[in-house]
Amino acid sequence: MVTLEYLVQYAKQTGFIFQGSEIYGGLANTWDYGPLGTNLKKNIKEAWLKKFLRQGPNIVGLDSSILLNPLVWQASGHLSGFSDPLIENKTSNQRYRADKLILEHDPNAKPDGWTLEQMYQYIIDNKIKDPVSGTTDWLPIRKFNMMFKTFQGVVEDTANEVYLRPETAQGIFINFKNIQRTTRKKVPFGVAQVGKSFRNEITPGNFIFRTREFEQMELEFFCKPGTEIEWFNWWLEYMKQFLLNLGIKEENLKFEPHAKEALSHYSNATTDIEFKYPWGFDELWGLASRTSFDLTQHQNLSKEDMTYLDPETNERYIPYVVEPAVGVERLALVFLLNGLEEQELPGGDSRQLLRIHPALAPYKAAILPLMKKDHGAKADEIYKKLAENFDVVYDETQNIGKRYRRQDAIGTPFCITVDHQTMEDNTVTVRFRDTMEQIRMDVDKLESFIRESLKF
Ligand code: GAP
Repeated sequence: MVTLEYLVQYAKQTGFIFQGSEIYGGLANTWDYGPLGTNLKKNIKEAWLKKFLRQGPNIVGLDSSILLNPLVWQASGHLSGFSDPLIENKTSNQRYRADKLILEHDPNAKPDGWTLEQMYQYIIDNKIKDPVSGTTDWLPIRKFNMMFKTFQGVVEDTANEVYLRPETAQGIFINFKNIQRTTRKKVPFGVAQVGKSFRNEITPGNFIFRTREFEQMELEFFCKPGTEIEWFNWWLEYMKQFLLNLGIKEENLKFEPHAKEALSHYSNATTDIEFKYPWGFDELWGLASRTSFDLTQHQNLSKEDMTYLDPETNERYIPYVVEPAVGVERLALVFLLNGLEEQELPGGDSRQLLRIHPALAPYKAAILPLMKKDHGAKADEIYKKLAENFDVVYDETQNIGKRYRRQDAIGTPFCITVDHQTMEDNTVTVRFRDTMEQIRMDVDKLESFIRESLKF
């Protein structure tokens, strides 16, 4: 696997990801997605929507607001609990997440279930040093709420405080009744949502792994109490197949069930799907069985009835929820790391290669006239025809070998070359990115050929 530094450089050079606000010296941990990154993110979202919304078991969509009534966050527990334990070093004034500091000292420690005092005592007892100053003079641990606060309206007072959502999930819970009533869905059913979330992370970093602004793809699956573990296992397998079918290598994945004592108080099962990043295995995708916690909390605070009446058994209950939740950028990082390589070729040559499923590739095909003068018009015609249905790219600069290499590096699965024979028999060469093999194909077959390759 390539290093993170290599990937950052590659992403910048090819146009996947640029540093945010670069011409002004940047803004820490913000990233802008260039032409290729935009396509990659779009394709990831489309793939997820296809499998988790369109083809999922009884799933509908939602697009809720980023700004919600602050009572939503009171009910969900985010106002009181969505915070990280922060410790500050007196000498360097650097702040760290106390639990991370402890885990770096001892990966087998389990600080998740500890009180702030227990974490502080551990850091003092084990003489954990500040990586910057090397000293052990720590201030007491404080809780730091990660929600971004802003003001709605012209007056910046507490009455007008609102928060940018730290997850998309709550928008789904507060619309549970609206969705169930309008769709007349019977439990079990699910609601899928893609959208931006914001967290004032204390320790963002590792490129796009953890940022303060990111997109989430969340699914809240409502089921009958008692069936949640069965559904939990079903979704875990579904998530795994999604990743494998899109080409993630199995050895890069690990399933980490949370131990009972590390579970959130409302969860009776949680598993993280982890990926092998350059810094080791770390979270990619979370699956949580959240019981009826969220709907109950909203029922208690809003006084709106959140129960569901089973039309067959006449039972009334608050549904349980199973939630697969993943970040779009997190997946983008994973697909890039999983697929990018510097491949040695026979004869001592090498090439940069991004092995990525055609469904996710920024461009499905590159249309290349062998000679601009003789083949440019025909290539342009093919390009325009394919562009009606696919993201394709046209490239007539430099020699054909260099153009192939450029496409290999950005993951374009097929290079379609227009040459003198095309003018005679309406066939082109199709070159395969991974094997570099070439076949001749009738121009009229290109569309169905590309369409077929996108299936997963
Ligand atoms: N509603 C549940 C929830 O939000 P989470 O584990 O906090 O759960 C779900 O987030 C997923 O969102 C994570 O597994 C990760 O893929 C992504 N994610 C969370 N925080 C992120 C951040 N700061 N930057 C990028 N992605 C993030």
